Amino acid sequence: MKYSNDSSRIDLQQAYRTFSDFLAAHAKEKDPGFDLKISHTCRVAALCAFLCEEEGLNQEERDLGELIGLLHDIGRFEEIRVKKDGFHIPFDHAEEALKILDDGWLRRFIKEDCFDGIIREAVLFHNRFSTDGIQDQRTRLFADLLRDADKIDNLRLKAEEKENVMFVFSLPDQTALNDSFVSEDVMDALMNQRCVRLNDRKTKLDFYVTVMGSFFDLHTSSARRIVQEERYEERLYERINPSLDSTKKQMDRILRSIQSAYIA
Ligand SMILES: [Fe+2]
Repeated sequence: MKYSNDSSRIDLQQAYRTFSDFLAAHAKEKDPGFDLKISHTCRVAALCAFLCEEEGLNQEERDLGELIGLLHDIGRFEEIRVKKDGFHIPFDHAEEALKILDDGWLRRFIKEDCFDGIIREAVLFHNRFSTDGIQDQRTRLFADLLRDADKIDNLRLKAEEKENVMFVFSLPDQTALNDSFVSEDVMDALMNQRCVRLNDRKTKLDFYVTVMGSFFDLHTSSARRIVQEERYEERLYERINPSLDSTKKQMDRILRSIQSAYIA
């Protein structure tokens, strides 16, 4: 059977219904961060569809991108539950997502199994340092588009959300950030316009500026355009009021490094 550019084997209405069922099954306790993850997921799904369109992909590919966005953080809901008992408990939400999908949920989101490989790899690599380990070019495209969408919404969240929402789980409180500084390896990465390796983060401010540095890992020009138009990087910079002069200088240098990448 041949599929035209406008047809799709992906039923997104069914996928969103399944997402509601999944949430209903996992929302027994109202954990902090739960609603935030739902709105993040829906925004990432919409951004994925938008970026696919900008990249000139066809209807079915746009639907696939949106579906991958909808599934990418499905492991987060279990992470929220686990981390309630301790913020520092190690937990890989991408691997957890695969377990959930393989446990019968994937077939409920999409009847066809022909996209399973792309979906599983894009979800698994969404929180890795890079997509270098993906061999298939088409799969890598979807993984890169997902990562762009995820980064845009993480930047938005840190730029726009109220403090009490923004700091749930992901970051220490505002005072702790203001009193912190950027450690050497993290500074080095950002000055060289590279993404920060997660294991290099040591101080509280390291975690925050790592989000700012996600600009260096954007794959599509549309994603870079959105981040620049929304001034996310500047808005993140403006939210921090460093107590130390030396930290203020670090923040100035980081912003300049990002702004010079805008121009490039
Ligand atoms: Fe995400």
